[in-house]
Amino acid sequence: MAPRSKNDHSHPRAGTGTRRPHGMALRTGILGLILISGGGCAFIQAPQSWLAPQGAVARAQTDLFMLMTWLLSGIFVVVVVLLAYIAIRFRRRAGDDEIPYQNPGSVTFEVVWTLIPVVLIVLIAVPTVRTTYRLASAPEGSDPVRVEVRGHQFWWEFRYPDHGVVTANELHIPTGRVVEFTMTSEDVIHSFWVPRLAGKIDTNPGMETSLWFVADEPGEFFGQCAEFCGVSHANMKLRVYAHEPDEFSTWLKDMQTASEPVSTVQASEAPRQVETDFDRGRRLFVDRACGACHTLADAGATGEVGPNLNLIGRRNTIAAGILDNTPENMRRWLKDPQAIKPGALMPNLQLGDEEIRLLTEYMLSLK
Ligand code: CUA
Repeated sequence: MAPRSKNDHSHPRAGTGTRRPHGMALRTGILGLILISGGGCAFIQAPQSWLAPQGAVARAQTDLFMLMTWLLSGIFVVVVVLLAYIAIRFRRRAGDDEIPYQNPGSVTFEVVWTLIPVVLIVLIAVPTVRTTYRLASAPEGSDPVRVEVRGHQFWWEFRYPDHGVVTANELHIPTGRVVEFTMTSEDVIHSFWVPRLAGKIDTNPGMETSLWFVADEPGEFFGQCAEFCGVSHANMKLRVYAHEPDEFSTWLKDMQTASEPVSTVQASEAPRQVETDFDRGRRLFVDRACGACHTLADAGATGEVGPNLNLIGRRNTIAAGILDNTPENMRRWLKDPQAIKPGALMPNLQLGDEEIRLLTEYMLSLK
């Protein structure tokens, strides 16, 4: 390539050498943009995407983010356009041998470019502070459903103190009603996060935090512990099921019924004459001391170290949301919990295949 001007000899890198890298940078940039925008679409559709908010809280938070995104995008565009214009308009041309005019300063410019950021900060700060205060506690007179969240390594405990119901990993809520959470942790710091319903809040040992949200529509919402809490942090998932109010009441009633210790007698009695697999499974649950850690009213078990198992057969998932609740998966779990969730506190009880089959049969029929 021929030199473009007589000055090129003083800029040895301005010629051939820069052409190809520029072309490559351009192509890489375009490819990157395509990937980012393509990925963005998938990201919005993803089950844990906060870009598809539900309910007043998530929407307020997303709106805030969008306000900032548009504002900052605007600034980006203005800066890039000005930069490009100045770079082209005032570039060095053939024959420019003198140093350009050096401006010693301008009070007007100083004032303007101090005021612009001040205005921008106010535009961001006012809605941010207002939203933060508005979301700090449940709206007055909202008659919330109260839920106590307890983080555990590596699962979630949900208590409904007004209804005497306790469950794990799958939270059920009514639509159109405020759900107010009080959160703490039994061991280390976890973070409760259901991206489509609200931002994340830490659950801390020995300290209470709070959160509220609303789900407008029925549906299943995915959540995830969002604070590194040990080897199975990534396996600490949760689901939120939002039901129509009457469906939620039914669930609550069923859970209340299932929480009444009705069957303690059979569990510890001598085997009945005609013992079904269900009975034998229940007896194993008692004999194998599962109740030392788990509450299961049907077997008279009241342990509180591990997840509450009332109506376990009705859950969609087991092992903190990482496995579908199928007989096959339940057997795998009972066989060797650590193989599925490393660091899980549930010990391997060295159960035999027949014991595993009976326990699975028993628990999955508790619906
Ligand atoms: Cu619990 Cu991460």
